[in-house]
Amino acid sequence: MQKLAIQGGTPLHGEVFISGAKNAALPIMCASLLSAEPLQLNNIPDLHDVSTMRKLLQQMGVAIDLQGELMTLHGAGVNKLEAPYDMVKTMRASVLVLGPLVARFGEARVSLPGGCAIGSRPVDLHIKGLQAMGAQISIEHGYIHAQAKRLKGARIFFDIVSVTGTENLMMAATLAEGVTVLENAAREPEVVDLANCLISMGANISGAGTDMISITGVEKLHGAEHRILPDRIESGTFLVAAAATGGSITLRNTSADILDTVIEKLGEAGAKLRVEADTIHLEMHKRPQAVNLRTAPYPAFPTDMQAQFMALNAIAEGSAMMVETIFENRFMHVQELRRLGAQIDVEGNTAVVRGMPRLEGAAVMATDLRASASLVIAGLVAQGETVIDRIYHLDRGYAHIEAKLSQLGASIRRLK
Ligand code: EPZ
Repeated sequence: MQKLAIQGGTPLHGEVFISGAKNAALPIMCASLLSAEPLQLNNIPDLHDVSTMRKLLQQMGVAIDLQGELMTLHGAGVNKLEAPYDMVKTMRASVLVLGPLVARFGEARVSLPGGCAIGSRPVDLHIKGLQAMGAQISIEHGYIHAQAKRLKGARIFFDIVSVTGTENLMMAATLAEGVTVLENAAREPEVVDLANCLISMGANISGAGTDMISITGVEKLHGAEHRILPDRIESGTFLVAAAATGGSITLRNTSADILDTVIEKLGEAGAKLRVEADTIHLEMHKRPQAVNLRTAPYPAFPTDMQAQFMALNAIAEGSAMMVETIFENRFMHVQELRRLGAQIDVEGNTAVVRGMPRLEGAAVMATDLRASASLVIAGLVAQGETVIDRIYHLDRGYAHIEAKLSQLGASIRRLK
């Protein structure tokens, strides 16, 4: 198991280049299954989850060429309609091949993802939506087996807002017969980025970014070029790290208009922020003020930023109430932050954080992707050395994080 060793206490200063969004790259890579023509993607982030998705699609027969941030995917040779358990169990987003496979080939066998650290995370809404579009679905030996001569447009209501549920069914609907309307759809920027890519492939989609998306099926989709949008969660993570360490940071290749609530909360905490086109600048000259927050679907405060703000609140002035409404177990970072001296009480889906003047370095363990980011931020502010174990979680969603943090002046190194 690789570890990260961090000497805390150094304010972060400098500029960092933000990578493409993991949660846009993953569904958009699956869109290559919808066409026999090449899909050329730019700004692809160098992440473990992206290479997992690449292997999954390649074993299905998608030809994939990667040169730096430029990935070309060619779905002409798809000859295997299955996503095996040993790949799906390491990355839930593998379920995103289901909709495209049924839509283009009329069949798919995709392993059920199983739970994960932050919650049970079922895919019942993905399945219900495909059934509404006429797919015959059986669950056997832990696999979803879906078949359909040709999917038919349907009106689908999500009783819970689901990001990948919306993405899976939007992709399926692009080749279905007739019109599909997704109601109570997810409005995340990554959903909009996928829609924009599908439209450039010839899909007929309107309403992406609102809670009602309408898709009129077409006979086939053609190739396209698309640039993945910037990662708003990586951006938010670096902004919180700079705020927590009392530094000043400039993010490049990002965009501020998909981070409104995060920027607003950082302002509430006392940070000074300036945004231009693809740049965000943050300065923090004093100890942060504690900020209350409640996670909810976009455009409300993102659940993927909750753990990072808990690290900020752990050293803030005052107490904060943090409510997690999306996942039932997304407080795994709490007991690790307590090892660093954080004062946090958890009651159900609410955590009350009493800000401490300082944290003390300790050995801690990463449990999931964003919890790991929270521990890195806490390690950057704690006195002394913090060693974080199981950092493979971090590598799933952050490209070269220790290199980017070192450039900002952090004392951080990877222990083999
Ligand atoms: C996406 O996960 C993201 N992953 C997650 O990011 C993110 O935390 C989450 O959306 C919420 O914003 C990707 O986009 C690859 P959901 P997803 O379906 O789509 C319940 C990260 O850190 N639900 O929006 O799997 C579910 O249990 C990751 O990058 C059902 O009940 O999340 C959860 O409570 C972590 N049935 C809620 O809905 C379903 O069929 C929202 O889940 C689907 C979801």
